[in-house]
Amino acid sequence: RPQTRIAPSILSADFARLAEECARMVSCGADWLHVDAMDGHFVPNLTLGPPIVKSLRAHTNAYLDCHCMLSDPSFWAEEFAKAGTDGYTFHLEVFAPDGIIDAESEAKTRELCQKVKALGMRPGIALKPATPWTSVKPLVESNDCDFVLVMTVEPGFGGQKFQAEQMAKVKALRQAFPNLDIQVDGGLAPSTVDMAAQAGANVIVAGSAVFGSEKPEEVIRQLRASVDQ
Ligand code: DX5
Ligand code: ZN
Repeated sequence: RPQTRIAPSILSADFARLAEECARMVSCGADWLHVDAMDGHFVPNLTLGPPIVKSLRAHTNAYLDCHCMLSDPSFWAEEFAKAGTDGYTFHLEVFAPDGIIDAESEAKTRELCQKVKALGMRPGIALKPATPWTSVKPLVESNDCDFVLVMTVEPGFGGQKFQAEQMAKVKALRQAFPNLDIQVDGGLAPSTVDMAAQAGANVIVAGSAVFGSEKPEEVIRQLRASVDQ
């Protein structure tokens, strides 16, 4: 299985103190910082965009893992790249609204993966809970996408309940692709991470569980131990 990465989601941070919050997470053992960009259109919530990423970049060397819940991720890719984004994950449903890929949506998804790479970022594809893993299969097989985000809640808000039934998707992906980076996002905590780890996830996003704790370093340690065991 590829390297374990623990990625606190700054959606649960104090937005007025983001630089300090990011530094605190890095000192608590975070590998990546998960940055949830929402446009109020692809999801019913509005968060942040390239200007905030740019400001953060000036304060941290940490890997910025941007999860773009945006209706037009192709349009925004260049701005995110200029701002200093490391990983650029967009939703497959932007091109295949029902989650089922066809020739046209596959071509558009592949094209964006290639654009993201050309801009110097690592392309990831996110799947909403209703989207089957097979929709991303051709893009992983062609090596255009080496990173898949399996949503374990409906995207849009932190603090939701972990959907254990998504583990079948993680298992199928892990079985098909032993070296793929598989990220899980939504409702991850020390109480749910074992299910994700056993299914084969190696990149763990956690917002409320980490930021809501008085000992975030302990939560990050527990999440890592679960994946590493
Ligand atoms: C939800 C976001 C998540 C969110 C996770 O749309 O993609 O990254 O911050 O928050 P928790 O860990 O609280 O479920
Ligand atoms: Zn996210």
